[in-house]
Amino acid sequence: MGSATTHLIGLLLGAEEDWPTAFEALVRRLGVVRDPGGQEHSFATERVTIEPFNLRDTPRQDLVIDRLAHWYYHPREWLKKVALMDDVYLLNSPFTFQAMEKHSAYCALMRLGMHVPETVLVPYKHPVDNVRWAYTSARYNKAFDLDAVAESVGYPLFMKPFDGGAWRGVSMIRDRGDLHRAYDDSGEMLMHLQKAVDGFDVFARALTIGPETMVMNFRPDEPMHNRYAVSHDFLSPAVGAEVRTIAQTVNAFFRWEFNSCEMLVKDGVVYPIDYANACPDVAVTSLHYYFPWAMKALLKWSAFCLVTGRRARTQVDLDPWFVVADDPLLGYEARLVEYQRLADEHFDTVRYQEFCGSALPDVDEMVLEWVQSPDFDTLLASTVRSTYPAHEQEQFLAHFRGLLGMWVKDEDARLAR
Ligand SMILES: Nc1ncnc2c1ncn2[C@@H]1O[C@H](COP(=O)(O)OP(=O)(O)O)[C@@H](O)[C@H]1O
Ligand SMILES: [Mg+2]
Repeated sequence: MGSATTHLIGLLLGAEEDWPTAFEALVRRLGVVRDPGGQEHSFATERVTIEPFNLRDTPRQDLVIDRLAHWYYHPREWLKKVALMDDVYLLNSPFTFQAMEKHSAYCALMRLGMHVPETVLVPYKHPVDNVRWAYTSARYNKAFDLDAVAESVGYPLFMKPFDGGAWRGVSMIRDRGDLHRAYDDSGEMLMHLQKAVDGFDVFARALTIGPETMVMNFRPDEPMHNRYAVSHDFLSPAVGAEVRTIAQTVNAFFRWEFNSCEMLVKDGVVYPIDYANACPDVAVTSLHYYFPWAMKALLKWSAFCLVTGRRARTQVDLDPWFVVADDPLLGYEARLVEYQRLADEHFDTVRYQEFCGSALPDVDEMVLEWVQSPDFDTLLASTVRSTYPAHEQEQFLAHFRGLLGMWVKDEDARLAR
């Protein structure tokens, strides 16, 4: 038995303070973890700062959780360097995240046989900023009938950017008037027209971290703090399993480790509509009741990857998926079984569960105790203070304390069983 190996987890962050503080606290509380061979492992965190880097520098970090590189490119190039040169494990890899935006994710899931609503990509409304555009456009951009395209998709429909994110440029289109207004406004954005899943029964949003998935009942029309409803049996067991499989398929297919997948369920059919969200919101003020689950999943998956020396696989391997997708003898349900098997294989799910049982036996109690601690309440109060105007703070603090109190009660009961 050697001395403990220390693993450094880097956090690449935007404006958020809440979940990083929570994650840092949990890493401190986790202490030493023993692997199956008896070797001891300890963990530390560090917030990654943006500074010049030599491409031959050796990074200190062994794993990086990223919520910044999707819009800030300097650290994104650093992530690529440390993935290619130094085997740093990334949640998520910019190679697959950058290349596989929303549009490619639609294509992939269509080929895998999922019920992605009918979707058409239309050319830019406004000229692209390039001296070659005038000639190319005059010669090759065919005039097209936007109304006919919309009719072929069918109203109502959604017009939204092909690379999506944060509801930017998304509009619901009910008729020709809406259609032309939205297209005129789209400017230099490249737009999909997608058939609306109109009057859906439920919006399921599945947050996945490694092999762990939480399927939540999402209400997009509510204000942020109220979008995730606390409800446990809002899907039948079969649909719940289907939603989970679709979310894990997306992630295993693209090698995403930390992503949220949006699906609409109508008359028992699951329609995936948005699942290239590989830097998902995990703020305590949005996830509330589900926040301890998310932090625990991040902690467990990071520990598993580091302690077992899991190798990052940055590139997508399409073949095994397409063998299943293209097999004419397999129906939808049989394919889902195969996709779940491939996802379990990719995430090493059985070994992960064994690891959690043997190396992290006390993590549930540890997180439960932490959520009840003054430490956690201080974090919640300061997050509320920095998120809401003064006159709303008291009300929101009580609201979130209530929801987290409910989680404590439920978790206590679960662990007692
Ligand atoms: N095909 C669709 N049917 C019904 N609602 C949709 C559809 N596409 C988008 N929406 C609604 O618009 C919202 C934003 O669209 P989405 O594709 O999720 O874009 P973003 O990537 O910006 O989040 C969704 O959360 C959903 O409420
Ligand atoms: Mg979305």
